[in-house]
Amino acid sequence: MNRLELVRNEIDAILLNQNKVEERRNGYVHLYGVAQCCSILAIKRGLDVELCAIIGMLHDIHTYKFNYVKDHAILGATEAENLMKELNVFTDEEIEIVRNSIFNHSDKKTKQDKYSELLKDADVLQNSLYDTTFEIKHKKRLKKTFKNFGIKMKLKKVKVPEEKQVKES
Ligand SMILES: [Fe+2]
Repeated sequence: MNRLELVRNEIDAILLNQNKVEERRNGYVHLYGVAQCCSILAIKRGLDVELCAIIGMLHDIHTYKFNYVKDHAILGATEAENLMKELNVFTDEEIEIVRNSIFNHSDKKTKQDKYSELLKDADVLQNSLYDTTFEIKHKKRLKKTFKNFGIKMKLKKVKVPEEKQVKES
């Protein structure tokens, strides 16, 4: 059984429920994008690739399910935990790793466990690859992530507009 595909189906159902086409598009691009960034970071760091892709797919579940961004990391952690329990194909340990990473992912300034850090890096990386001006918050984190792949980046100091900051949380 393809567990990642099971999770994708659940996320697709949530995204299909989005009334605004633009929001649906953002959801597909961001969630699938972060999941793929999670996969490549997992390969690089020797972590469980399938689990990391699942973390990426689920990380903003609360935002897209309820169109509510505030506290989405904390609320999304419980949402993801419940969904994974319902699917009945994950171990308690796997559920805890996913729950914990999602819970921590808005706190981009603090360094935490390796799965939480991977999600934060993937979140920032996806945003930067989408908006190729690289005018984003968390430049230090982004630079470090690129360095992980042997890419040296020079990022200009730019003031990030309010609306972009929300998108990246
Ligand atoms: Fe995100």
